Amino acid sequence: MNKKTGMTQQTERFDTSAANLPFRVSRLIPCVACFVLLPALGFSANIRAQQLPPPNYDESKVPAYTLPDPLLFADGRRVTTAGEWSKRRTELLRQFAEHVYGRTPDRTPRVRFSVVSVEPKALDGAATRKRIIISLDGRSDAPKLDVLLYLPNSVRNRAPVFVGLNFNGNHTIESDPAIPLPSGWVANNRDMGITDNRARESGRGTSASRWPLKQILARGYAVATAYYGDLDPDFDDGFQNGIHPLFYKPGQTRPEANEWGAVGAWAWGLSRIADYLETDSGIDRRRMIVHGHSRLGKAALWAGAQDERFAIVISNESGCGGAALSRRALGETVQAINTRFPHWFCENFRKYNGREDALPVDQHLLIALMAPRPVYIASAEEDRWADPRGEFLSGLHASPVYRLLGKEGLPAEEMPGLESPVMGAIGYHIRPGRHDVTDYDWARFMDFADKHFGLKKER
Ligand code: GCU
Repeated sequence: MNKKTGMTQQTERFDTSAANLPFRVSRLIPCVACFVLLPALGFSANIRAQQLPPPNYDESKVPAYTLPDPLLFADGRRVTTAGEWSKRRTELLRQFAEHVYGRTPDRTPRVRFSVVSVEPKALDGAATRKRIIISLDGRSDAPKLDVLLYLPNSVRNRAPVFVGLNFNGNHTIESDPAIPLPSGWVANNRDMGITDNRARESGRGTSASRWPLKQILARGYAVATAYYGDLDPDFDDGFQNGIHPLFYKPGQTRPEANEWGAVGAWAWGLSRIADYLETDSGIDRRRMIVHGHSRLGKAALWAGAQDERFAIVISNESGCGGAALSRRALGETVQAINTRFPHWFCENFRKYNGREDALPVDQHLLIALMAPRPVYIASAEEDRWADPRGEFLSGLHASPVYRLLGKEGLPAEEMPGLESPVMGAIGYHIRPGRHDVTDYDWARFMDFADKHFGLKKER
């Protein structure tokens, strides 16, 4: 455990702040320009991170807090009908955009899809593997999202699909040599031997334990994924790369204080994958499940909140800025996340560093934005940095909205024990172990989806 950050050493809890930048950058240090460049690249964020107060893990030191009521409009009026909830929902989406994630551009550029390969006998015949390039603008030099799709060959009709981004490249989820490596920036990673921010052949299959494709396909689900760095490489470069510049107004060089950061861009990309999936004859477009782990769990929740085409939303250990209540300030705090990852949220979110109580929203309201669609929250016992209890409480305090809409919400008042999942329209589990995605997590995600889609466990 690193005492300063409170984080256990884990493969994907990599630090994508300054320490991970290419070696080339370190050569710039003696140069005068570094006074301009280094702050822009996040070095100052690293210094500030060293000055953060130590994280609190003591339940008795959680500050007293009052959560905003999901069923009260900002002007104090009460929400009593489904029609009123839909207006409150709009108000909350605006507040999350304004204060936390930043506004997603209204305009979606001309997105084009090309299916560039189809392998009907992938994974020993269990799946059809497709590769789809989504061009994120009409221009030939526009950023491209390289989507990997597995369709279960056992399913004759259209299949439900799990849609989620991956951390290190499509080639890391499965060792198949036919899957191309990402060509852009990837985070340095000692376990994968990456020191120059370039993907390597040796990375093939290294995240396979987090993507149990055979089990997922055997249960009749398709899997769609893409590398998150295709949308926005995960370091603070002042939003010069990735998709943000596509949306700048003439003369604009970085997002405004209430415009999207990296989490917003990753969430937007999940919707672009959904755009494609809606056109694929192998996919049941009414059964798209968006999921994500950790920072990508934050993105999955924000995508699910904004895009109601996602029929189920799953957060795995998304923590601060994801499923965990900010006001508890247990483990990672708003100040800690904004300091170490200044590019994830909008600039306005920084106003709440050390002032969580002043936030007009808290994360239970993000969960409520999924209502009445099913949403599942997963925690891990040792993942205290993500505040498992705070993740559970978000589900609990979102429940009144589900009840208003005639659904069950979270069927537990108290946090359940280890490996004792609860599954209403809101589901939750906590399992033993560290920050990760395991077979246990996936089995529960599929149980939850089976339950809500009316599917049997074994097909
Ligand atoms: C860091 C960060 C978390 C994030 C996690 C991850 O630990 O502080 O907010 O969820 O990285 O994405 O692995």
